[in-house]
Amino acid sequence: MARKFFVGGNWKCNGTLEEVKKLVSTLNAAEVPSEDVVEVVVSPPFVFLALVKSLLRSDFAVSAQNCWVRKGGAFTGEISAEMLVNLNIPWVILGHSERRLILKEVNEFVADKVTYALGQGLKVIACVGETLEQREAGDTMNVVSEQTKAIAEKVKDWSNIVVAYEPVWAIGTGRVATPAQAQEVHSELRNWLKVNVSPEVAESTRIIYGGSVNAGNCVELAQQPDVDGFLVGGASLKAEFVDIIKSATTKQG
Ligand code: PGA
Repeated sequence: MARKFFVGGNWKCNGTLEEVKKLVSTLNAAEVPSEDVVEVVVSPPFVFLALVKSLLRSDFAVSAQNCWVRKGGAFTGEISAEMLVNLNIPWVILGHSERRLILKEVNEFVADKVTYALGQGLKVIACVGETLEQREAGDTMNVVSEQTKAIAEKVKDWSNIVVAYEPVWAIGTGRVATPAQAQEVHSELRNWLKVNVSPEVAESTRIIYGGSVNAGNCVELAQQPDVDGFLVGGASLKAEFVDIIKSATTKQG
């Protein structure tokens, strides 16, 4: 079965109420390929989740950008997976490199979050990716497979996971991975899943690319056989996100 193209918009820590409403209106007015062709998920900051969910067109879904590692309780400042489920928020992004690097979330902690969130019924965009230093040292696949392995050791059912390969050196830098660089890691990652999880999981799991994706580079990236979509940061705050969604048609025929 073909993997449905997936386009996520990670709004990160951006936006005012006015800007968020405007962005949702732009998305609501956009003409995009049907839900059979592309799955679109936008991820506003926590405080705007309920509002965006209430205003957003029904063929687009919403995602949180993080959630707590276990059941809620005395964890000041955290948001639990149960709360997201209670609000009918279907998706959560976990293990984004900004959280791994700035907030020191290690592989095991990310894997625990993924496991807990899935157990509560959330779908997870699990992010992996190497730093520039790691790439230059030839460690890209070691890093990415260790990050994936931590998850694979705890998770049995991969049907609600999308893996986002996001090289840290490409995030927010304007320095996008070349289509060949993206394809190389995506195909090695898929092979890792095949060998270490199962051929079925490797075949069905969507591996999306993130890092300076924009309207100008998305089509060529989308043409790569193992690139199943995108996680878009900066460009997801602009109307060009619509063009990135449209790149899904590249995969057809
Ligand atoms: P960017 O961010 O598109 O701004 O590079 C991608 C991401 O961090 O998900």
